[in-house]
Amino acid sequence: MAGDQLGEPNFALAARFDAKNPLVSTEILKVEVVVIGAGPGGYVAGIRLGQLRKKVLVVEKNAPGGVCLNVGCIPSKALINAAKLYEKISHGADMGILVDNPRVDFARMQKWKDTVVGKLTSGVRQLLKANGCDYREGTATLLSPRTVRITRPGTEDEVLVETEHVIIATGSRPVAIPSLPFDGKRVVDSTGALAFTELPGRLVVVGAGYIGMEIGTLYAKLGSKVTFIEALPTMLPGSDPECVQVVARKAKKLGLEVLLSAKAKGMVEKGDCAVLTVERESGPVEIEADKILVAVGRRPNMEDIGLEIAGVKTAGGFIAVDRQMRTSVPNIFAIGDVAGQPMLAHKGSREAEVAAEVIAEKAAEMDAQVIPAVVFTDPEIASAGLTAEEAEKRGHKVKVGKFPFTALGRAIANMDTDGFAKVVVDADSGQLLGVHVVGQGAGDLISEAALAIEMGAAASDLAMTIHPHPTLPEAIMEAAKAALGEAIHIINR
Ligand code: FAD
Ligand code: NAI
Repeated sequence: MAGDQLGEPNFALAARFDAKNPLVSTEILKVEVVVIGAGPGGYVAGIRLGQLRKKVLVVEKNAPGGVCLNVGCIPSKALINAAKLYEKISHGADMGILVDNPRVDFARMQKWKDTVVGKLTSGVRQLLKANGCDYREGTATLLSPRTVRITRPGTEDEVLVETEHVIIATGSRPVAIPSLPFDGKRVVDSTGALAFTELPGRLVVVGAGYIGMEIGTLYAKLGSKVTFIEALPTMLPGSDPECVQVVARKAKKLGLEVLLSAKAKGMVEKGDCAVLTVERESGPVEIEADKILVAVGRRPNMEDIGLEIAGVKTAGGFIAVDRQMRTSVPNIFAIGDVAGQPMLAHKGSREAEVAAEVIAEKAAEMDAQVIPAVVFTDPEIASAGLTAEEAEKRGHKVKVGKFPFTALGRAIANMDTDGFAKVVVDADSGQLLGVHVVGQGAGDLISEAALAIEMGAAASDLAMTIHPHPTLPEAIMEAAKAALGEAIHIINR
């Protein structure tokens, strides 16, 4: 059954399996909503639907929590944090903290990271259950707009689910480079790199975007020699260029080698390492590597889930959705990485709430003014809203206010003064258009900016809000004051 019309579920399959082989069982379920995938999109949809008293089934083929909790956001941040602590302790002497010979027990660090992941994923299971949401392990496929088949590897048993609505939350996977295919040993994706059992002596990272910079930096701090190969003339393309400069300076201090405008052309095994050929403007170079992390983007998981059979349309490489997260088939919704950029966990979770509420016939749509983004590099870059360049392109006359962490009491006391906060303001109306922070804790600072922009705040609202002292968020208040020419702790220009 294809197209917008909803067909009756077809259970002919069930009869065929049962008749052919009595050992193969076919279970038939009836629910109101099936959610395919239990990442930050799917599990949040399941919980919200449970709260809204819908009979909901979440189907997940791997572990609950999806990429984010199992092999993405959480394990990467656990290791990034451990590496940061190690670096701090190693330089504690400046603060009068003397630790003899600090060193890394990498196996123990990995074990600790796994316990962090375990706690969170078991928490997801409990939350689903507590909200009355049914959960099944298995691979889900659409047989029609109202029928989903669930299979489990290693068994021929299947479950056929008749449902009123479907939410597709199948996430994304890494893009491979044909000349450097993933083999899980020498050439790995982020999942492989977060699961190394030994610290690589020489790590080459292809792609200096979110994943490459976050993971590459953490291994450099733990002692690996890390070289980046980035095709574009800048690392972290898409981030505020001034913020990127701060990260680039720290990367140099950490000994990271970053080859820009460079392309990996292939590799050969030589003794116990790999030799990569890299094409640069100045000519080809060869680089030895123990491990190669390829992080050149991710693509949505849209194949093999029955989109064509159900009549769900795609556009621009993602499932096409409207502001209510509805696909081209009215009872099928798509959320998270599979439904478009930015591929961020919190964007998928908000879309999940929207889809669940629309299904429960509440007035809801995806109307976020900003989707904040954080790159957990050293220092972190966090942004909400427009950069000055983007604002100008949209026709705004722009005013920018900036406040450096070197002038911030708390940052000095923390011995972490790299970075600044920057606010972008419409010069005519004073409206806040964007906030960009590079520096320690930037990721924790940006939510204030996101709220301000969502509420339609002016720069003066941020400037006049009393911020507690001494804290890092004062940097945002001072940057807003700077945009008004009223900064207190720097000289106004
Ligand atoms: P996913 O989390 O990918 O979950 C989809 C789930 O669907 C998977 O568990 C999959 O097994 C399941 N599935 C797929 N097909 C089927 C099927 N047919 N049947 C049943 N189940 C199926 N984002 C941030 O916001 N902050 C970060 O710090 C951050 N760090 C990251 C670090 C790394 C290394 C990576 C790789 C990503 C990171 N991300 C981060 C991105 C974030 O992980 C994704 O945006 C987020 O996980 C997307 O959520 P999702 O629910 O759309 O999909
Ligand atoms: P990315 O798009 O962030 O970066 C990929 C980088 O690889 C870019 O700089 C690109 O120019 C470069 N590149 C592409 N092809 C190349 C080639 N052949 N050779 C060399 N360089 C090449 O993608 P990434 O890092 O894989 O992350 C995927 C997504 O996951 C991100 O876009 C983000 O949405 C999400 N993510 C979010 C995080 C966060 O919120 N902190 C952390 C990690 C991932």
